[in-house]
Amino acid sequence: MEKIYISSDHTGVEMKLAIADHLKTKGYEVIIMGNSDATACSYANNGIELAEAVVSNKGSLGIAICGTGVGISIAANKVKGARAGLVYETQTAELIRQHNNANILATGARLIAVDKAIKLVDIFLSTPFEGGRHQERVEVIDNYE
Ligand code: RB5
Repeated sequence: MEKIYISSDHTGVEMKLAIADHLKTKGYEVIIMGNSDATACSYANNGIELAEAVVSNKGSLGIAICGTGVGISIAANKVKGARAGLVYETQTAELIRQHNNANILATGARLIAVDKAIKLVDIFLSTPFEGGRHQERVEVIDNYE
């Protein structure tokens, strides 16, 4: 089972802890990062820190949460080797793994409910990368970096 890093800014603490509990119950090793209370903080710092952890721990995956998921995904994607996909619904949670080999799922605590986020994370973690033509496209991004 993959090691899972999960982080949020202040908006996503409740969602982050609920997802972490869920994943621990399923047997994942979960490393909780970022804010632990409602004190305002920067999604930018937390997104970069999370992505660095994922990229430097081969085979691990990440979950990034801010109000919309946008800011923390932009920040995470600045880290070489990070592929964060912003997800609010089930089909995208599947496709970011199948087609993009995303190693980070980002979502928005102000936009979706906690139980929906847990469903998206379960899909993300159980869907493999398809490789093939998608591998070539991911390699274009890797080579650009
Ligand atoms: C914080 O207010 C909010 O800007 C942040 O959580 C996020 O939505 C940014 O993209």
